[in-house]
Amino acid sequence: MISLSIMTSQQILDSVKQTIHQQFSGEGTGHDYFHIERVVNVAVQIATKENADVFLVELAAWLHDVGDYKLHNGIDKSEELITGILHVLDVPEKTIDKVIEIVSQVSFSKGKMAESIEAKIVQDADRLDALGAIGLARVFAYGGSKQREIYNPDDPAGTSIQHFYDKLLKLREKMNTISGKAIARERHVFLESFLQQFYKEWNGEL
Ligand code: ADP
Ligand code: NI
Repeated sequence: MISLSIMTSQQILDSVKQTIHQQFSGEGTGHDYFHIERVVNVAVQIATKENADVFLVELAAWLHDVGDYKLHNGIDKSEELITGILHVLDVPEKTIDKVIEIVSQVSFSKGKMAESIEAKIVQDADRLDALGAIGLARVFAYGGSKQREIYNPDDPAGTSIQHFYDKLLKLREKMNTISGKAIARERHVFLESFLQQFYKEWNGEL
């Protein structure tokens, strides 16, 4: 039976985008709306090149941070929130389950493996946003929001500069897709040259 109330894929994406926009506008720790928009943008471009399901990739990218434990007092609410958002849009259960699975495999901190090509792509796009000039801005935004020092040569653990070594400079090797690897290479080199300049200035070299 054909129901007139069934939304097109584009209408679903537009509606999800609006929900995310309302929820993440003005967020100051680097997980703001524009982070999510960039991840969507890059993920869709990679998905097109890699012949993945572009609709699923875009939907999961919009929703990849919605239930993040960092934004919900340490508790991951992805499944609950994603189900809530997609259910009212009459998205089929099967699609909702796929989106939840993709999102559960994306986060670096959860340490899960991305299995489907769609999860691999959203994970690559999320990681790419932690590299390059934007990644650089986000480290210090996030660090500042957690009262972390920029750098402390006497006790570097826990500083934002240390985060480059703990995570950011390892991301290049962890990219899943060919397209992701190529973008990561350039953004990685940018971070290395930033660090070089940082230490130069830190050490008072003119
Ligand atoms: P994910 O959401 O993929 O698990 P994170 O939330 O760990 O990724 O990272 C989100 C952003 O916050 C990234 O740009 C990352 O560099 C930054 N960030 C995460 N942890 C730290 C930290 N300990 N110090 C500084 N920046 C951090
Ligand atoms: Ni993210």
